[in-house]
Amino acid sequence: MERRTIPSTLDTIFEFDYSVQAEDMRGLYEKAKRDQWNASRDIAWDTPEPSDGRTLADELVDLYGSPLWDKLSENDRVDLNRRVTAWRLSVLLYGEQGAMLACSQLVDIVSGADEKFFQATQVMDEARHNEVLERYIQHRLGGLHYPMPDNERILFDAILGDSRWYIKTIALQLVAETFAVAMFKMMSECARDPLLGEVCRRILLDESRHMGFGMLALPEVIKGASEKEREEMEDFTCVALEKVLTGFFPGDAYKDFGFSAAQIAEVRTFRRDVAARNDYAVFRKYFRRDMHTSMVNNLARLGLLTERVRPRLAALGIQLAPAV
Ligand SMILES: [Fe+2]
Ligand SMILES: [Fe+2]
Repeated sequence: MERRTIPSTLDTIFEFDYSVQAEDMRGLYEKAKRDQWNASRDIAWDTPEPSDGRTLADELVDLYGSPLWDKLSENDRVDLNRRVTAWRLSVLLYGEQGAMLACSQLVDIVSGADEKFFQATQVMDEARHNEVLERYIQHRLGGLHYPMPDNERILFDAILGDSRWYIKTIALQLVAETFAVAMFKMMSECARDPLLGEVCRRILLDESRHMGFGMLALPEVIKGASEKEREEMEDFTCVALEKVLTGFFPGDAYKDFGFSAAQIAEVRTFRRDVAARNDYAVFRKYFRRDMHTSMVNNLARLGLLTERVRPRLAALGIQLAPAV
């Protein structure tokens, strides 16, 4: 089996005081214990598949509406629909594994029993997400997986290789997880297979807690950071944003389907044009909404995105609200 070894060193902090020090963080931990669900018990795996075999709305296939799409037979459209879903779920599956590993490191390196307890619950949450997505892929998509995209691998190598907890938290809990939330929301709203919708909705129930950890834990460290350290955090935030917002294209799924390099290039161009017209680009609509309401605003509120990086953000299509 393929595996990846990422070198890392970290300091393990052993706490001796287990009394409540951070009420909000302990509250998050309480919620996490209360709201655990179990894929073996709580997911209706016997839900019938849609009769046409589609997992998601065709609108989420990049070439939907293009001349290339119009030429495809019904069987090919369904095949492509399922492959694109498998590609998206593969990306999310690796993200869940990466999140589980990063949070297990966080259990060691964060200070405070409340923070450690919460991170221990996130390790379990991410394990359950990893498990339920794999089960869906096996159950519905014949076990079809696609390889981890380069951008995702680079981002997780950086997250897992860095020894500082706040760098892991910025990239994981604030950037990567918000991206995953946008993806799960989009998939739950556009699911043709009710089982996929259910899986996505279950995962989403856990995600707001994960972002909550970053919002509770980061302000103090950002406040105490020197100008140089704060800029370093901001730069890392931008790198993480660049990694999640670019290079997210299911090229491997199209290649596997049998498209030539020229046809795949045509799909890319079509997607870019649709996004530029900004009319019915479903993908863009969901991402803009979630990126702006949660990710960008939260990062800016924390002081992790300032005027200094405005041009860098603009290159990603992100408009930073004017400083007040
Ligand atoms: Fe997750
Ligand atoms: Fe998460």
